[in-house]
Amino acid sequence: MTVLGIETSCDETSAAVLRDGSLLSNVTATQLVHAKFGGVVPELASRAHVRMITPVVQDALAKAGVSPEGIDTIAAVYGPGLIGSILVGLSFGKAMAIGLGVPFVGVNHIEAHLVSNFIEEPRPDFPFVSLTVSGGHTQLVLVTGPLEYILLGETRDDAAGEAFDKAAKMLGIGYPGGPVIDKLARDGSPDAIQFPRPYLDEDGYEFSFSGLKTSLLYYLRKHQLTEERLQREPRLLADLCASFQAAIVDVLVQKLFTAAGRHGATSIAVAGGVAANSALRRRLEFESAKRKLRLFIPRFEYCTDNGAMIAMAGYLKAQKGMYSDLELPAVPNLRIGSTP
Ligand code: KG4
Ligand code: ZN
Repeated sequence: MTVLGIETSCDETSAAVLRDGSLLSNVTATQLVHAKFGGVVPELASRAHVRMITPVVQDALAKAGVSPEGIDTIAAVYGPGLIGSILVGLSFGKAMAIGLGVPFVGVNHIEAHLVSNFIEEPRPDFPFVSLTVSGGHTQLVLVTGPLEYILLGETRDDAAGEAFDKAAKMLGIGYPGGPVIDKLARDGSPDAIQFPRPYLDEDGYEFSFSGLKTSLLYYLRKHQLTEERLQREPRLLADLCASFQAAIVDVLVQKLFTAAGRHGATSIAVAGGVAANSALRRRLEFESAKRKLRLFIPRFEYCTDNGAMIAMAGYLKAQKGMYSDLELPAVPNLRIGSTP
């Protein structure tokens, strides 16, 4: 079975071709237009998807050496995400499915992040605990089988990546904030400033990062740390980045390993753009080695939004006969475990 996967839920236009579970190509066009606004501008994102969807799909087919007629199934994201963005890929995918006379599969974006660790070998054993951390989501999920899972907890407010992005905006260091904070934090001390660890309920799996963001704001105000002053004092900026990052990493790691222990998981998997964070990776490697757990983090291109994970989720759904109706709408607030 050869599946074309299409991802357009946010600011990445991506398409991939997967044959019998093996990836043949994955092409992603990242929209740079949002950088100067310090966040994704929905209308600009939709327009960029409209411009990029045809060349990106053509490129994915060409790189895979597959003609459109060689595609058996088309999978496209239908939520959650920005409605205008989702509609571009969803409509494109449906139109292609009609044109080629092949079945269509609508894919939940979060479900796709969960299977991003299946794109390449080795693959995690079931059950495993998965942490999806991106600009839009922070979710802890127990994965009990292919496309079988239980949501353990999620964020009540900001996602982890969003917290990085908002902090970077306050510090005046650019967008997206995660990679910049990660880089600057390398020269700073994680213990320099004691930001709160928002564990909420120590025993539970819910996250909350908006209070942490507020404490950074108060700290900056209290010490009169303007963007200009931080630029003049790189050491202080590095300490702020390292300390803020450490608070996020501590909470993510504590909840992930508590969940793994309680559910008898032998593997843990992390996905989403924040999985690229070097401090998080170091802690994950250290803690999983200590507990003799197998750690899975996909390659960076499969951590961030990508067509390969949509194709993989589409393939798994197609194998179970879970095809979608062509009337399937775009669902911006789609949740995990929602039907169809
Ligand atoms: O998965 P992704 O590309 O898109 C969403 O679905 O949101 O994740 C993007 C997020 C952004 O918030 C970005 O700041 C964050 O991932 N990110 C990082 C790093 N690289 C990307 N956060 C922390 N450290 C990084 N190295
Ligand atoms: Zn995502």
